This record gives sequence, structure tokens and C-alpha cells, in this order.
Amino acid sequence: MHRDMMTRRAWMAMLAKAAGAGALLNAVLPLASHAMGSAPPRLTVYKDPSCGCCTKWVAHLRAAGLHPDVHDRSDMDTLKDSLGVPTSLRSCHTAIVGRYVIEGHVPAADMQRLVATAPKGIIGVAVPGMPAGSPGMEVPGRADRFDVIAFASDGTTKLFAHH
Ligand code: CU
Ligand code: CU
Repeated sequence: MHRDMMTRRAWMAMLAKAAGAGALLNAVLPLASHAMGSAPPRLTVYKDPSCGCCTKWVAHLRAAGLHPDVHDRSDMDTLKDSLGVPTSLRSCHTAIVGRYVIEGHVPAADMQRLVATAPKGIIGVAVPGMPAGSPGMEVPGRADRFDVIAFASDGTTKLFAHH
């Protein structure tokens, strides 16, 4: 926390210097303060210890600059039940970012957009199954089209992204 504050102060000072005094500064600072004010949401990944593609997906998240907290567990179905992941959308691993559930090989960029846009009325997004070419499911020479599907607590779904 302390380090974040220092970083933020240093950044604001730099901005102030760059902008100079006056109206521009007044316009920029509230925005900067807003953007810097929120810490990235906590990201927790649950996976079966024997699943290799889950480990590769975690590597994809780290390569995208995310910092997942990873837990192995053998009761993945029970966990998915308790998080409300519709049976038809299930894959291997399940993650939680902020207040959303992430099911399967969802690209990091879609997770970042989910958090940034914070859509109401959905509890998570999923890439059902194991599409070849999705992050962590790379197959040389093959990249299937796949959808990222948003789901609500009542089980209704809608398209979130198409790849
Ligand atoms: Cu998988
Ligand atoms: Cu997995």
C-alpha cells in the first residue's frame, strides 16, 4: 500500500510538472487520481493438480501481466456448483477475478475488459470445453474459432467475445 502511494504521488508530481499550472492541470488531476485510485482486483485460480493445460493458461495470465494466486483442488465440480457455473459452459479450471467467475481458457484481455467495464447482470464468463488455439490450448497449425460466453446467476447466457 505504502509503495503504491509513493508511486502514485511520484506519478502525479510528474503529471503536474508536464501539465504546468492552470486549467489543464485542474482538468487532468481528477482523472489521473481516479485512474490510479483502484488497485487491480484479486485473481484466484482453482485447478486440478494433474491438469497441464491449466498450468499453461496460468502462464498465459502471467505473460499478460496478471498475478494469479493458484490453488490445486480435486473437487472442481463442487466448486463450480457453488460458484454457479452452468453445466453446459464448464471446462477445466475456474478462477475468480474481483466479483466475477472465469471458467476455462478465457483470454487475459477479455478478463481485463470484464473488470474494466464491470457489466451488471452477469456473474462470470466462460470458454466452454477446450477449444484448440485458446490460451493454454495452443496446437501447432490449428486455431479454432471460439466464443467467450457471459452467464448470469439464473443460468442465462450471452456472447461476450468471439475469437
Ligand atoms: Cu484446459
Ligand atoms: Cu485448465
